[in-house]
Amino acid sequence: MDDRVREEELLDLAARIAEEAGQMLLAKRPARPEVLATKSSPTDVVTALDRAAEELIRARIAEARPRDAVLGEEGGDTPGEGVVRWVVDPIDGTVNFLYGVPDWAVSIGVEVDGEIVAGAVNNVPRGELFTARRGGGAWLRGERLRCNTGVPLDRALVATGFGYGAARRRVQAEVVAQVVPRVRDIRRGGSCAIDLCSVAAGRVDAYYERGANYWDHAAAGLVAAEAGARVGGLNGKPVSPDMVLCAAPGLFEELHDLLVPLDPERD
Ligand code: IPD
Ligand code: CA
Ligand code: CA
Ligand code: CA
Repeated sequence: MDDRVREEELLDLAARIAEEAGQMLLAKRPARPEVLATKSSPTDVVTALDRAAEELIRARIAEARPRDAVLGEEGGDTPGEGVVRWVVDPIDGTVNFLYGVPDWAVSIGVEVDGEIVAGAVNNVPRGELFTARRGGGAWLRGERLRCNTGVPLDRALVATGFGYGAARRRVQAEVVAQVVPRVRDIRRGGSCAIDLCSVAAGRVDAYYERGANYWDHAAAGLVAAEAGARVGGLNGKPVSPDMVLCAAPGLFEELHDLLVPLDPERD
């Protein structure tokens, strides 16, 4: 099968599953969802619906494409038999979900031979489905997305996020304290996937975070890249849990050069 056709089909399926999971979450979200368990730290929470959404997504993938591998935040890595792997964050922004802050997303990325070729990010409370296919642009409601360009660092609105461990947060707080005086302002939206889509849509100019996981940025990183943003790590490395940095070329380098000497692990 032609690569483009296959990637279109994968994107279509990812988008349909992200929408169905979003509808289920909206229908079943209680007024006050309960924390079912904590994971890496007391602030790292999971609700019953994080698990239920991932189960629904895995069931739909298995029905349509039983040979594919799946990596999901809640269910781990399930090996497959072919070259396709689905990378799933059933709710990105669980803390927002818990409190009713209307920014949380179902994020589904699709890898072929280890490279993300399609991504769907459904910001469920806002009814916004962001999609991207490799080489096919980034889209929201039938409109092609373009990130902001030509913004200097001192006029940049910069989104960031914080991991869950207290030690990591202490360091992230020190870094952000150095960034605030150098930029227009900082936003902490609570969903890595939505932050990256916000760069794509020009709602912020840049985003950086140390400690984001692959399922947080797999789909949305493609959305941002297809909207013209550069997505990478520090010192020429690709994105990794060490660093996700995203902005239009030019601003990317300015923010990069600000972060490198501040970054305690000197990536
Ligand atoms: C978290 C969100 C948050 C980011 C954290 C992620 P979760 O994902 O994306 O914005 O700062 O690093 O772990 O736990 O809500 O899926
Ligand atoms: Ca996440
Ligand atoms: Ca999650
Ligand atoms: Ca989580």
